Amino acid sequence: MGPDWTAFRALFPTLERKAYLASGSYGLLAKPVEAAFRQYLDDRLDRGVDWGGWGARTEAVREGMAALLNGQPDEIAITTSASDGINSLASAIDFAGRRNKVLLSNLEFPTGAQIWHAQAPRGAVVQHVAEAQDGGVPLEHFAAAIDETTKLIQITHVCYRNGQRLDVAAITRLAHERGAMVLLDAFQSVGAMAVDVAALDVDFAVGGMLKYLLGTAGIGWLYVAHKHLGLTPTASGWFAQADIDAMDIFANAPATSARRFQTGTPPVVGSYAAEAAIALIRDTGIAAIETRIRDLTGEAMDRLTAAGCQLATPRDDARRGPQVAVRSTDAPLLTAKLIERGVIVSSRDGNVRAMFHAYNDASDVGALLDGLLAHRELLA
Ligand SMILES: Cc1ncc(COP(=O)(O)O)c(C=O)c1O
Repeated sequence: MGPDWTAFRALFPTLERKAYLASGSYGLLAKPVEAAFRQYLDDRLDRGVDWGGWGARTEAVREGMAALLNGQPDEIAITTSASDGINSLASAIDFAGRRNKVLLSNLEFPTGAQIWHAQAPRGAVVQHVAEAQDGGVPLEHFAAAIDETTKLIQITHVCYRNGQRLDVAAITRLAHERGAMVLLDAFQSVGAMAVDVAALDVDFAVGGMLKYLLGTAGIGWLYVAHKHLGLTPTASGWFAQADIDAMDIFANAPATSARRFQTGTPPVVGSYAAEAAIALIRDTGIAAIETRIRDLTGEAMDRLTAAGCQLATPRDDARRGPQVAVRSTDAPLLTAKLIERGVIVSSRDGNVRAMFHAYNDASDVGALLDGLLAHRELLA
């Protein structure tokens, strides 16, 4: 028997008032996560300071993230954002030799692209892998771009603009055959679908906790496979040290684990929320969550297509994630009209994005459809 989705839905009070379809923007606050935030305030009022307890909480988040990603705790850095993790990783990469090229798919979220472009003064040559007519980036495009100078490829798992999913395992296999490393940006998939770093065989993966993971802004994670723990970030700090309490101002002695990719004081408040949120996702079961989202989004896509909507997201389950992107002639206006009706969506790139979580149900699909059809004149 699978999870009780009615009981799961009841953990999110916002759903009593809204058809919430913006989980890829910010996931809803669950009651256990709200309780974790209150616990932080209680602990502050009670004790003032609790570095021991807060350190243990960061470790619990590290362990929870490792389990969710099918990695090991010593392969996870707890960061303050995805950008924070990508910056630490970039700082560890040497672009001095012949292998100095960074490839980015054109589906990347801007922050990763901007960080790699920022490495140009350090010798990085950044090239983009263009999308095909249908908005996805096929394997052949990577095959044509990856060569003996390619150091690293950043690929998004699910595109934030159109919901297209890349074939991460196949791209990674190709990259490894040609001696390149792969960084997976899993921010738009983690928490909504299985992200198995071991099965995908990616070298690095990055994300945050505020979207489908149901945590909060201000805390993120970076996965660094064991074989890359010899990389030494030049972005560093006391929480990256082998012994945080060493307080040694005469040397940099980074941890042997992925904690070497951390910098300063970890996100204390966020770790309360993230611990509770990751536990909720794991207790519910990521496979069950993925199946439910696939069914809901599949139903939404079929009904939208039957009603004449044009979708930027492919119907093939293997080529999409939790987002359904609907083409519009004026996406910001259509989004505003839907929000006025209590249907919370967002717009990017000419599309209205409906981003589902397992707490959604058929009533949300119906509300989306009714809202879009009430403004047919704004549909592409
Ligand atoms: C796919 C993806 N990557 C990266 C980011 C940026 O993350 P951060 O603000 O934590 O650096 C986002 C934020 O929306 C995202 O959707």
